[in-house]
Amino acid sequence: MTTSLDINAAHGGTLVHRIATPEQREAFLEAGDTMPRITLDERAVSDLVMIAIGGFSPLEGFLGRADYDTVVTDMRLANGLPWAIPVTLSVEATIADSLTEGTKVRLDDSAGRFVGVLELTEKYAYDKQKEAINVYRTDEEKHPGVKVVYDQGEVNLAGPVWLLERDPHPLFPKYQIDPAVSRVMFAERGWQTVVGFQTRNPIHRAHEYIQKCALEIVDGLFLHPLVGATKQDDIPADVRMRCYEIMMEHYFPQNRVILAINPSAMRYAGPREAIFHALVRKNYGCTHFIVGRDHAGVGDYYGTYDAQHIFDEFAPDELGITPLKFEHAFYCTRTSTMATTKTSPSSPEERVHLSGTKVREMLRRGELPPPEFSRPEVAAELARAMRVAQEV
Ligand code: ADX
Repeated sequence: MTTSLDINAAHGGTLVHRIATPEQREAFLEAGDTMPRITLDERAVSDLVMIAIGGFSPLEGFLGRADYDTVVTDMRLANGLPWAIPVTLSVEATIADSLTEGTKVRLDDSAGRFVGVLELTEKYAYDKQKEAINVYRTDEEKHPGVKVVYDQGEVNLAGPVWLLERDPHPLFPKYQIDPAVSRVMFAERGWQTVVGFQTRNPIHRAHEYIQKCALEIVDGLFLHPLVGATKQDDIPADVRMRCYEIMMEHYFPQNRVILAINPSAMRYAGPREAIFHALVRKNYGCTHFIVGRDHAGVGDYYGTYDAQHIFDEFAPDELGITPLKFEHAFYCTRTSTMATTKTSPSSPEERVHLSGTKVREMLRRGELPPPEFSRPEVAAELARAMRVAQEV
């Protein structure tokens, strides 16, 4: 059983490591020109990295048919372990036909760089609509996660992978803290309990409020913004990271918070992705995970607290990470503090909360979000980034 003291248990028991050794790398590079090759898109490259660094433990590669089927229908791998999102590598049928099971396939990124190797154990067709309905709870193509599924190839390639080399992140090398390292950092600080925070948006005061509420009851906060592929209109990762740096400098106790990047791509799968996000943070060594309002949601596809309710479908021991659930937080003008309806006697017109879309509209008009919504230094940074983007 995983307890709060058992900080080193990755999902499935062992932290996966699939980065090629120097000898393997040399052998792969030598064979690289003669191997069949496929090109990965941005999401597939980030999935490869996440598998290799253990962020997706216990996965050692892209899902095979048996695991894929049970993940889609039951949120579990074939061995029964919880797993909520299919991590698959899809290609067009013509490409799949040209590849032979039992061989090694060279994986290139979109710039043609040799980034990894797949030992192809299986290739299989799958039902996109079934995946969409089960994982995303909709088959509408305008859902950004469903669109990716519909746009990708119709055959999944499966098998263990190797990442050729773990390169420093081009933009955020300082914050590239992989699971093996975050675990050591938590232990060095003597943290027995650590809460992970997922985000794809610029930090606002409701985020800060729930982070700090959580930090009141655990030893450390692992701020883990997602910097992999997001949808077009989300704020770019470099801007979001600058906002986090500002928060670290002015508003957080530095000895209780670690800021690190999560290289994954967003799926926008709401409840299912909340489970997935929690398991990923467990692999980084977290014991707790924050789930607020409409976690990983998009549009109005999910109920405000669906991503919290889904945790009840698992026994706590099988997830091995404890969700900390927060209601919709806002600034309460009656009590002059951040709050939720659990802690504030306010009427709706006394609550300041803005949607991401509203904030983007304000910034585009040259207006700053109010201090009740955003720390002024963060608002100024967002405004500056918007001006730069508009000039380009
Ligand atoms: S997400 O797609 O990564 O979930 P976002 O960055 O907005 O989007 O949210 C990060 C986390 O903060 C999620 O757990 C989300 O539920 C939570 N959250 C965001 N805004 C609020 C809010 N006003 N009140 C409570 N929780 C919130």
